[in-house]
Amino acid sequence: GKVLLAYSGGLDTSCILAWLLEEGYEVLAYMADVGQEEDFVEAKQKALKIGASKVFIEDLRREFVEELIYPAVQTNAIYEGVYLLGTSLARPVIGRRQIQLAQQEGCTHVSHGCTGKGNDQVRFELAYYALEPKIQVIAPWRVPEFFNRFQGRNDLLAYAAEKGIPVVQTLAKPWSTDENLFHISYEAGILEDPNVTPPKDMWKLTVDPEEAPNTPERIHITFAEGRPVKVVNQNDGTKVTDPLDLFIYLNTLARRNGVGRIDIVENRFIGIKSRGCYETPGGTILRVAHMDLEGLVLDREVRLYRDEHVTPAFSRLLYNGLYFSPEGAFITSTIAASQKNVNGVVRLKLYKGMVIVEGRFSETEKLYDMEESSMDVHGGFSPQDSEGFIKIQSIRLKKWGGKF
Ligand code: ARG
Ligand code: SIN
Repeated sequence: GKVLLAYSGGLDTSCILAWLLEEGYEVLAYMADVGQEEDFVEAKQKALKIGASKVFIEDLRREFVEELIYPAVQTNAIYEGVYLLGTSLARPVIGRRQIQLAQQEGCTHVSHGCTGKGNDQVRFELAYYALEPKIQVIAPWRVPEFFNRFQGRNDLLAYAAEKGIPVVQTLAKPWSTDENLFHISYEAGILEDPNVTPPKDMWKLTVDPEEAPNTPERIHITFAEGRPVKVVNQNDGTKVTDPLDLFIYLNTLARRNGVGRIDIVENRFIGIKSRGCYETPGGTILRVAHMDLEGLVLDREVRLYRDEHVTPAFSRLLYNGLYFSPEGAFITSTIAASQKNVNGVVRLKLYKGMVIVEGRFSETEKLYDMEESSMDVHGGFSPQDSEGFIKIQSIRLKKWGGKF
C-alpha cells in the first residue's frame, strides 16, 4: 500500500520513514509549513535519500492564521486558564492537508510520529477520520514491533547509521519541542520534574524579559469584527495590514520585548498530567488587546454567553482534537455573530515581558456613553431609579436573613 507520512526531518520520523519502507510500503513524505523554523529543502533531500517516492512541502501559514489563529483571538481561546493552544490550533490545518494529499495521491494509509501518550495522536487521527472515514492510520509509536525495537534515542541513532540516514550533529536538546507561527512548546526530558526551572537558554522565541529593551515600544492595533486588521508602531511608524504579515510583525515585536512565556502543568485529554513551557509572542499581545476592546464595545449579555459557553467549548474542542466535528462546526459558526461590533483601536505599550493597555477607542460602536458613565454629569440617568432596582434585588436577600 501507499502511505503518506507526516514528516518533520527529525530523527524519529526519518527512522519511521525507513521502517515503513522496510515493512513494504511505498512512502510519500508530507511536510507542513506552519511557520516553524526549518530547512525544508534540506529535509526534502533527506526524505528522498531515505527512499520517499515523493515529498510535499505545503505552506499552510495563511490558512493557519486566518482560519484558526484569528478565531482563537476572537473567542479569547485558552485552556485551563493559561495555555493559548498553540499546538492544538495547528493540528486541524496540518491534518486536513494531509488527508487532501492522501486522497489526491491514492494513499490508503497515513502515518505520524506522535507518541502513544499524548494529545497529538488524538488530534491528528480524529481529524483524519472525520475528513476521510476510510483512511487507515499507522502510528508506529503504538506498534509493538516498532516501540520494542526502538526503546530510546540510541536505538534510533543506530538504526539511522545502519540505514545511512544523515543525522544532524547537534547535541540533542534535553526536551522536546513543537514550533509553529503561533508558539513553541517545550515538554519532556528535564522538564518532566515540574519543579525544575527551565534553563535560561531553553527559551528560543523571546528574549528574557529582564534583558528586554529599557525603552517601551508603543503600538496601536485596529480590530474589525474582532480580527486584527492593522498594526501601527508608534515608535518608528511601521504599519502592517496583511493578515499574515500582521501576525508575523506582532511576533517580532513581542519577541524582542520578552512577551509570551508561560510554564504550566496541564491535563492532557488522555488523562495524564504533563508539564509544559510555551512561548506565544504575538498571540499574547492579541489576547490582551482583543479582550480590552471587548470591554468597550461588546454588549454585556453577548459577552457573558460567549465567555460562559463559546470560549470554553471552542478551547476544549481544539485541545481535544474535535475541531472537525458536529459541535466544532456549530461552535465555530457562532464566533462571527459575537464579534460584529468588535471594531476599534487599542493602544498598547510593550515593556519587559508586559503588554500594558494605555487606551482604546471606537469610531463606530457607541455602547460606552461618557456622559452616562460619568460621576460628574447626570447624562439622562435618574439616580432615583437605582433605589427601586436595589429594593427589588434585595427582596429575597432580606428573607434569607444573613445566614452566612
Ligand atoms: N501540551 C501541548 C498540547 O497538547 C503541546 C504539545 C506538543 N506536541 C508535540 N508534539 N511536541 O497542545
Ligand atoms: C506527543 O505525545 O507526541 C507529544 C505530546 C502530546 O501530543 O501531547
